[in-house]
Amino acid sequence: MRKNSTGGLTLDGVALQRLVASILLTLLLSAYALADGASDTYKAKCSACHGVNGAADTMIGKNLKLRSLASAEVQNQPDEALFTIISKGKNKMPSFDKKLSPDQIRSLVRHIRSLKQ
Ligand code: HEC
Repeated sequence: MRKNSTGGLTLDGVALQRLVASILLTLLLSAYALADGASDTYKAKCSACHGVNGAADTMIGKNLKLRSLASAEVQNQPDEALFTIISKGKNKMPSFDKKLSPDQIRSLVRHIRSLKQ
């Protein structure tokens, strides 16, 4: 980088502004993903069976005799166990490791924790 003109300084200023702007944008987007991403993914991919609030109060949920994701039986399982069930599936529970990233699955686990009564 040349340092022989004030132009260089201005450019650096612009570059810095861009950097700050992109950092802010990233922070904003990840905050948004934490707040809404997981519950949107949950609604789109899980709620048909598990119900919007995890209680499995849907036709499919009742047919499959699902227990509530808010129940102690589910909440007492460690994060890794829930993560594995979501990524690999279990019996009639489909696997999601081809459709969702590990980060998305982790935020779904956090979402399930937020369903606890
Ligand atoms: C096609 C219906 C269906 C969909 C869609 C579905 N599940 Fe499931 N899920 C099941 C069934 C059935 C079980 C029970 C599996 C078993 O224990 O035999 C289950 C079990 C689970 C469990 C373990 C609960 C327990 O009782 O121990 C978790 C956690 C879970 N699902 C999360 C999710 C998440 C998160 C999604 C969305 C990414 C999802 N499921 C989508 C049917 C579904």
